This record gives sequence, structure tokens and C-alpha cells, in this order.
Amino acid sequence: MQNNTDITARINALKKEKNAVILVHNYQLGEVQDIGDFVGDSLELAQKAAATGAKLIVFCGVHFMAETAAIIAPGSKVILPDSHAGCPMADMIDAAGLRRMKDELPGRPVVCYVNSTAEVKAESDICCTSANAVKVVSSLPDDEIIFVPDQYLGYYVQQQTGKHIHFWPGYCPTHARILPEHILELKSEHPNAPAVVHPECRPEVTAVADEVLSTGGMIRFAQRPEISELIVGTEMGIIHRLRKENPGKRFYPVSEQAVCPNMKLITLDKILTALETESHAVSVTEEIADRARLTIERMLAIKA
Ligand code: 13P
Ligand code: SF4
Repeated sequence: MQNNTDITARINALKKEKNAVILVHNYQLGEVQDIGDFVGDSLELAQKAAATGAKLIVFCGVHFMAETAAIIAPGSKVILPDSHAGCPMADMIDAAGLRRMKDELPGRPVVCYVNSTAEVKAESDICCTSANAVKVVSSLPDDEIIFVPDQYLGYYVQQQTGKHIHFWPGYCPTHARILPEHILELKSEHPNAPAVVHPECRPEVTAVADEVLSTGGMIRFAQRPEISELIVGTEMGIIHRLRKENPGKRFYPVSEQAVCPNMKLITLDKILTALETESHAVSVTEEIADRARLTIERMLAIKA
């Protein structure tokens, strides 16, 4: 039985030997965040993957994130330490379903949330993340947009842009467990703490929040000097980074139930095995990757 210090030392040695980088999402377990070369939100991780030039990318997140990295960094081998780490929202739509929607609503551009499969990205015109969804939709000249698969993010974008959004009824089961009363209770206990929530939350929840932000946006918001306490409406994993980077500030998670079980599948043991065996490699067929890459690159061309 190895302890975490031994495992970390072996991970670091193998990383060097194999010219690997470890990219980590803000929702990962604390010990996984602590060994990452870079910790960030979906947009920041996609940008890093595109820029790294590393031979091997160990992606500590869920499948669609590793797949996005594999598409935009074709020169790197991308591995996901647990092949079962998926995103239920991404699996709520497939390419055939999106094609049917496009047939019913011809002529409308398709914006796909990055939480989607490569096949769905390949059928879409432009991708977005929670950090840039409003900007991406605003950049389009059209007044009517097809937005898949997150209905709540789509609803938020509609509110912010005034455009007519045709939704797909997908949602994140983790964020759907956050309810307005969770925020309101914490606000009455901590009247000076602003509440930030993720746009994957229900509209009733975003309605009672002070700010609606991506996980990267929350990290930056918490760094503001005027913030001494914060109510945090997203997956619990982000609390580790918020507390680590802001000693002395207080962070109140809105619900202990806001845990993404898929994000928690990645452990230090599995990262070590992934580096030793270079599995599980994430790959996308060339035809799909070429089309999906255009969708992602159109997004990356829009400056944050
Ligand atoms: P961010 O891009 O804000 O990190 O969100 C990713 C995600 O999966 C939220 O559930
Ligand atoms: Fe998918 Fe929700 Fe988990 Fe994010 S938190 S990866 S949207 S299931």
C-alpha cells in the first residue's frame, strides 16, 4: 500500500520522463487538483490543451473534456484515467437527435455546449462553454438559435441576449439538485455574502443569485479584495481551490448534494496507472474530429 506522497513522487517522475502534462478540472478531488500542472474551467482547459505541445495529456475531468482536448491537440495523446468518467448531460443528446431538430428548424445556426459528444459537435456550427456562451450567441447575426443540450444554460443565454432560443431538454443532474431555498437560507444566515451560481442551475436558482458564472469566473470573483465570504452554487469540488487560494475568506457551498460522481472517479492511484500504461486513450475518428474541430476553433477565435 503506497501513501499519497509516494504516489505523487512517482507521478511527477513519470510525468517528466514522458513529457506529460496533467490538466485538471475545478471539480476534481482536492488531492488531484494539487498534483495538476493546470487547474481550470472547461474553456481554460481547452485553451491549455491547444497550447501545450506535450506528447501526453493526462486529463483529469470527464470524457467530453478529454475528447475536446484530443480534437484540438491532435499531436498529443490524451488519456482519461477512468474511462467511466462521463457526463450524463452530454449523453442526453446524440447526432441523430440533433439532425432531427435541424430538419424541423432549418436555417437556424446550432450552438452546442462543450458538454456534448464529438459527434454532436460535428453536427453543430459553433461550440460554447459556460464562460463564453453569451458572447458566442451574441456574435451570431441570427435572432433564432438552436442551443443544445443544456436547457438551463440555453434559458440563461436567452435572457441575456434577447434572442429566441430553441432548446434541447438536457440538464445536469448535479446542478439540478441545487434549489432556490438552499441559496435563500444561506443568504439569511450570511447577509453580507454574495451568492454566485453556475448557469447550469435552474432558472429559479439563477434568479436569486448575485452573479451567474463559470467555475473559472467564480475563482476570479472570489479573488476580488472586497469579497470576504461567498455563497457558492456549483459542484462541491471547487470549494477546495477557493479555500486554498483565498486563506482567511469564507466559502459556503449551497448543497452537500451538489457532487458530480463522475468527476470523483479520478484518483491519484488511477492517474499513476494511467501514466504507467498510457491508458485510457481518448480518440475520435478523423472525419468526426475534422468537423468537430471547426466548431471548437470557431469558439476559440472569439476572445473572452
Ligand atoms: P465550467 O466550464 O464552468 O468549469 O463547467 C463545466 C461543467 O461541467 C459544469 O458542470
Ligand atoms: Fe456533467 Fe454536471 Fe458533472 Fe458537469 S457537473 S460534468 S455537467 S454531470
